[in-house]
Amino acid sequence: MAWTDDNLTSLQTHVLAEEREHPSATGDFTWILSAVALAAKSIGNKVRKARIEDVIGALGDENVQGEQQQKLDVIANEIIKSCLGSRANIGALVSEEDETPTVLRTHEDGGRYAVLFDPLDGSSNLDVSVGVGTIFSIVRLSDEVKGTGEARILDPRSLQVAAGYVLYGSSTVFVLTTGRGVNMFVLDQSIGAFVLVKSNLRIPPAKKIYSINEAYVDRFPDAYRNYLNWAHDNGYSSRYIGSMVADIHRTLLKGGVFIYPPTGDHMEGKLRYLYEAMPMSMLIEQAGGRSISAADTRLLDVDPTTLHQRIPVVMGSTDEVEHVNRFLSES
Ligand code: AHG
Ligand code: MN
Ligand code: MN
Repeated sequence: MAWTDDNLTSLQTHVLAEEREHPSATGDFTWILSAVALAAKSIGNKVRKARIEDVIGALGDENVQGEQQQKLDVIANEIIKSCLGSRANIGALVSEEDETPTVLRTHEDGGRYAVLFDPLDGSSNLDVSVGVGTIFSIVRLSDEVKGTGEARILDPRSLQVAAGYVLYGSSTVFVLTTGRGVNMFVLDQSIGAFVLVKSNLRIPPAKKIYSINEAYVDRFPDAYRNYLNWAHDNGYSSRYIGSMVADIHRTLLKGGVFIYPPTGDHMEGKLRYLYEAMPMSMLIEQAGGRSISAADTRLLDVDPTTLHQRIPVVMGSTDEVEHVNRFLSES
């Protein structure tokens, strides 16, 4: 079905229509995505009222990442788990904020999917009203591997079948791929629905913008420094918000390259594979872009070994990723 952008199409109706295009569809997706959309509305509501309800600031605890947990990290985590927990086809939930998976149903009890998520991305920006977001990945669990925990989630036969993010910015934007291109929805508060605003979103193949935290440049491997020197000599501009969701959203819409390299204290980079790099890589590739974790290494070809592992990230416009890749290949 060719979606014209002038139809009034909600996320719900769009996913239902997509489901009808998949003969083998069982409604699983719609069921899970409707829970994610509900969680997004609820988290967005909390984010917008954060300073009023005094839920900004740090909790004082550290999460499994060894990072300061913000109050809203925990609130967003609980909201997502309460929305997804009731979906009968979800076997496990993996969250940035929880050391171990939340096991809901075994394979025998119909647990066919895992949902991996970063409940609140960029949370350090929350207190200053800069765009923060939620990132999620839906994985169809392997039927060959019994059990429910880490082994089944990480099994190479478990496949990422959908990915998306919600950006709580000047508007609440929901960007989604189920493997057939990327679609963008915006929350229309007056009707409480995410409405389709752009179907089959494509990332520009080139744009002279790089997005990286240059404060760490002395701790980057030489190849990244060489790339930055080249970019400085070739008229590039720098845009860095510090929330991956906001930086990737800009990169998707305008083009450019987003980079989080290995640094002195994070030799695998800072971003987490399963619920940041993996979903964002699927979105970027589905929009016609490219995502690598090292020279000539497609990020999604890397098999994860632990739930919270980190991975270096270079993703965005194909031409821009190749400029970085050229320097990585020479090193
Ligand atoms: P989170 O808030 O989920 O921990 O993620 C923060 C991440 C990501 O959003 C962003 O790209 C990166 O941290 C920024 O890191 P630096 O502050 O080191 O640049
Ligand atoms: Mn994050
Ligand atoms: Mn987070």
